[in-house]
Amino acid sequence: MMLEGKGAVVTGAGSGVGAASAVRFAAEGARVLCADIRLEAAEETVRRIEKDGGTAVPIACDVAHEDEVEAMIAAAAEHFGRLDVVYNNVGVPTPRLGSKLEDHTAEDFQRLFAINVGGVFFGSKHAVAQFKRQDGGGVVLNTGPVAGLVAWGGAVYAATKGAVHQLTKAVAIEGAPFGIRANAICPAGMPYTGFMAAGGLSGDPDTVAQRTAANHPLGRPITAEDCAEAAVFLASERAANITGVLLPVDGGYVAR
Ligand SMILES: NC(=O)c1ccc[n+]([C@@H]2O[C@H](COP(=O)([O-])OP(=O)(O)OC[C@H]3O[C@@H](n4cnc5c(N)ncnc54)[C@H](O)[C@@H]3O)[C@@H](O)[C@H]2O)c1
Repeated sequence: MMLEGKGAVVTGAGSGVGAASAVRFAAEGARVLCADIRLEAAEETVRRIEKDGGTAVPIACDVAHEDEVEAMIAAAAEHFGRLDVVYNNVGVPTPRLGSKLEDHTAEDFQRLFAINVGGVFFGSKHAVAQFKRQDGGGVVLNTGPVAGLVAWGGAVYAATKGAVHQLTKAVAIEGAPFGIRANAICPAGMPYTGFMAAGGLSGDPDTVAQRTAANHPLGRPITAEDCAEAAVFLASERAANITGVLLPVDGGYVAR
């Protein structure tokens, strides 16, 4: 059990990386507050966790709103007595994946920054405040992507994730004297989550998986479960001396 007794929050826990991470955190002994803008999706993840004997609580939260994020962190501390890990995982694509820079509207820009950067900023801010009120530090995890590490298309989305990466490093440095660690998990394209549909793409995920896998030196599609494994490790004491890291989960894509 790598997270025995820990209190954790996972945002975007109703689907994809968030759902897989919440399930893995609980399997490793954490009690998990499953947050999502879609309460019924968070509730479904909680049902999966409880079916396996784990402990989880659902909460509705739009991470673009600070008051909702503050309430989410307070709810975790109340339910679990303390907060040890916050996983700021929510991120949304442009509603028209594949759009060129000039096709993005001001509204697209504001929405992506409000959710992708705002969510990580508010989640980190209120988690750090909670960690400092307690004793013993804490862990901030964020989901970046390889698109925040290299230019891969989707300029506005990539810019939001570049900001997430910089926030990760800044929290790592500011938090270090307080025993607070901050790291980001940077996946390549994951065809089996809800992300591509959120970006308006349809199509057979297996076909997309084959295409994306062909871009990766390891030749396998990236899954939400791959990210969840990295999240468990970075959240655990086994990563006690790892902070400020942007960890690609990309089959070797950015190593080329
Ligand atoms: N799937 C990919 O190709 C890919 C690649 C690289 C990085 N990522 C990143 O992985 C993370 C998780 O994405 P995913 O692929 O699991 O997508 P997903 O669509 O399966 O899951 C996202 C979840 O976030 C929730 N959500 C959306 N807006 C929200 C808000 N404002 N407040 C709270 N919850 C909200 C959704 O309801 C959904 O349950 C994101 O940060 C994304 O940018 C995804």
